[in-house]
Amino acid sequence: MKVLIVGGGGREHAIVWKVAQSKKVDKIYCAPGNAGIAQLAECVSIAATDIEKLVAFAKEEAIDLTIIGMDDPLVMGVVDAFEAEGLRVFGPRKNAAEIEGSKAFSKDLMKKYHIPTAAYETFDNPEAAIAYLETADMPIVLKADGLALGKGVLICNTLEEAKEGVKTLMLDKQFGSAGDRIVIEEFMTGREVSVLCFCDGKSIKTMTSAQDHKRAKDGDQGLNTGGMGTFSPSPFYTEEIHEFCKKEIYQKTMDAMAAEGRPFVGVLFCGLMITPKGVKVLEYNARFGDPETQVVLPRMKNDIVDVFEACIDGKLDEIDLQFEDNAAVCVVLASDGYPEHYEKGFVISGFEQFENKDGYYVFHAGTKQTEEGIVTNGGRVLGVTAKGEDLRKARANAYEATKWIEFENKYMRNDIGKAIDEQ
Ligand code: AMP
Ligand code: GLY
Repeated sequence: MKVLIVGGGGREHAIVWKVAQSKKVDKIYCAPGNAGIAQLAECVSIAATDIEKLVAFAKEEAIDLTIIGMDDPLVMGVVDAFEAEGLRVFGPRKNAAEIEGSKAFSKDLMKKYHIPTAAYETFDNPEAAIAYLETADMPIVLKADGLALGKGVLICNTLEEAKEGVKTLMLDKQFGSAGDRIVIEEFMTGREVSVLCFCDGKSIKTMTSAQDHKRAKDGDQGLNTGGMGTFSPSPFYTEEIHEFCKKEIYQKTMDAMAAEGRPFVGVLFCGLMITPKGVKVLEYNARFGDPETQVVLPRMKNDIVDVFEACIDGKLDEIDLQFEDNAAVCVVLASDGYPEHYEKGFVISGFEQFENKDGYYVFHAGTKQTEEGIVTNGGRVLGVTAKGEDLRKARANAYEATKWIEFENKYMRNDIGKAIDEQ
């Protein structure tokens, strides 16, 4: 089989790595890929959002299966475009990807189908939003309706901050048209957990849980980022919580989407908050999480291509999805200054230390191959993942492996997975 993977970050590297182990696969392409992916796949320089070129490439190369890693092309309708040409593709169609593409859509869906989530109101008009804020309790959460690279969420402690937030999103348009409409939402407290689910439009299979660390600095300080590290499983996501979520969140979401004429096929990422009043949905994404994928896939036992095909064919109930009974931790090595200003182009050394070491992985996010070697080429540069028999061992292994890699400007959080000590 010939497989094409669309995207070029740590998530796509982890997907490519997992697909490379499939017995069914002879050749992997990745568009656009990165320097790490290039060691396992042939990278083609087509942007992940250039749908026309992706379709043309898949037809020309007779690709048997395309897997979409990133959110933007999904929300733009890449799956519909592939299907229109009779090409096999894994991911939700445009009308189902709206569950990530529009926060207002996802909140309305949850309200309509009684899926637990924070109370909210939606606003198209800044004056109405401000009038509402004047009567609301603080802290409060403002969310741009559209895609904003995970950065369109503002947590406001005071009315002044909240009013300023409305200005940032709706008037200054910091996230462009994503902020034409905003959701104002009740602030929740608790533990966050990410649960990724394979979906075939009717049924779901949940992957093992993970927890992300979104803030740039230790102790959850600093700005929100794309994710600075993850651990899996989350010890806070108990069997009892899982049973509740399966029934009240995951399956209900599947059924709701089907009832709306938007059957969801692909990976549904449920961002959950375990609050004192029960589990509530923070957000949905229509794809694998990054860096969650970098801890979840190394623990997955199945041939992932079998699972992708079962989703596309509506036969997910035939898959016995299994994960190893261990743990994994991923520490992101970033460029100092991320997510604001940072320099790139520094040579990275130490990759050879990962060779032939079972249970240690280095997934590339922002890297580039040059004549001098592989250099840093983004804010998040690498994801260093290690497994261990439990979370503490996995964390110790991952931090040990972060020492193997050197580059100027290397920055990481030192407390990924520290929450497990509070267990
Ligand atoms: P989202 O993109 O909706 O997941 O939001 C990004 C991050 O903002 C989440 O991972 C949470 O840490 C935080 N967040 C979002 N919504 C809420 C909320 N209602 N209450 C508290 N924190 C929130
Ligand atoms: N780790 C959060 C995300 O993938 O959106």
